[in-house]
Amino acid sequence: MTSSDYAVWHGLTPMGAHLRENGPDLFLVGGSGSHVTDAAGRRYLDARSSMWNVTLGYSCEPVKRAMARQLDALPSGTVMRYEHPPQVTVEYAAALAAVLPEPLRHVRFGNTGSQMTESAAMLSRFYRRMAGETDRQTVIALREAYHGTGPLATALTDEPIMHDYSAPIDAHVVHVPTPPTETCDPDACTGECVRPVIEAIDAVGADHVTAVMFEPVSGTSFRPAPTHYLETLIVECRRRGIHSIADEVTTGAGRVGAMTYIERLNEVPDMLVLGKGLSAGYFPLAALVVARDIYDALADPPVRLGFPNGSTTDGHPIGAASGLAVLDILTADGFLPRVLQRSAELTEMLVAASNSEPRIGAVRGEGMMLGVELRDANGALWSLRDVSELRRVCREHGLLTSYSVGVMPLLPHLTISTDDCRELVERFVKAVGAYQA
Ligand SMILES: Cc1ncc(COP(=O)(O)O)c(C=O)c1O
Repeated sequence: MTSSDYAVWHGLTPMGAHLRENGPDLFLVGGSGSHVTDAAGRRYLDARSSMWNVTLGYSCEPVKRAMARQLDALPSGTVMRYEHPPQVTVEYAAALAAVLPEPLRHVRFGNTGSQMTESAAMLSRFYRRMAGETDRQTVIALREAYHGTGPLATALTDEPIMHDYSAPIDAHVVHVPTPPTETCDPDACTGECVRPVIEAIDAVGADHVTAVMFEPVSGTSFRPAPTHYLETLIVECRRRGIHSIADEVTTGAGRVGAMTYIERLNEVPDMLVLGKGLSAGYFPLAALVVARDIYDALADPPVRLGFPNGSTTDGHPIGAASGLAVLDILTADGFLPRVLQRSAELTEMLVAASNSEPRIGAVRGEGMMLGVELRDANGALWSLRDVSELRRVCREHGLLTSYSVGVMPLLPHLTISTDDCRELVERFVKAVGAYQA
């Protein structure tokens, strides 16, 4: 089959190279627990839980049953320009808000993380328009950030190649250096850690900046931002009337062994973006959760449309039913501590493996969002190309992974068993051993 006979066009993928290198028959036909099966009958351990979103494995019966029940009761619905929201969506919004820190209480639903990061930035700008602060346009994001695609989400994402080929790109976006890697000492805080952000704000002019968006754990480097850095950032933004927006599309919904990363902070951002694991990947579901004061300020805008942002399938009842079932699982006694325990076991296995395979380095990350450093004989981190090639060798060894610069991302589902962790590490070590850089 040539590239022109293959009908599906994958996102962010040069299709010709993909088909030449991988062939056209890699499609998946089944999944159960941690494993997926392709059309040729090959079985893989999915260490990337599809696109980091299948957080409860491929056979989560309670979620499937809740979706099937909802399909029978009310199979479709919307919260877009419509006065009859599905009851299950209203219930889900309340249940979701109830497990998040105050004052994050109002939920806009969507289908993708990109849609919601973009909505967050647009909502911040809309708020300014309504408040008469029309100069406040600029959104600040961190270097190495991934916030999705779409004109504004692409601009917020720090991937120059995406900017080069996605013109016109939003001009009012500024990127600042990534957070420090060292955990700061709150008692000795001089505010130094957030200086690059403050300098960027000053360079633009504080009254021209509307929001700062951040990922608490970088999905590129897998380095968690120190909690004190994030707290200082939120406080400094608040002091200047700038919205803080946490993008927890990957880290939220249990991935870091908690509902959200921000719940460990002493400060709460103005907006929170969730996606991926909200539905355990069983339905396209994402959410933007907004603080009370922002919602209240915009409840009766002088614009008849309200905030002009939304899509047909926002608040879809099947998504809400999946979300409620996932929430039940995440909030069950002992569930999240078990994720942390399993993450510690997996980390320990990887550290043990690094003793016998010198190319395996330190393990970064949080919960079930791990990045394993890969180092050459001189101790240098591998290039993106080498990690991407290793990913192919991993697949030949029955292991599906993502790839990043110098680190191999490992994001299996949250309920992976100890045996499956062992299998994951064995396959990974064999693949690293077989890889010729
Ligand atoms: C932190 C973060 N934000 C936003 C997105 C975009 O989400 P989606 O792919 O659902 O549009 C992603 C996806 O990987 C992400 O990791």
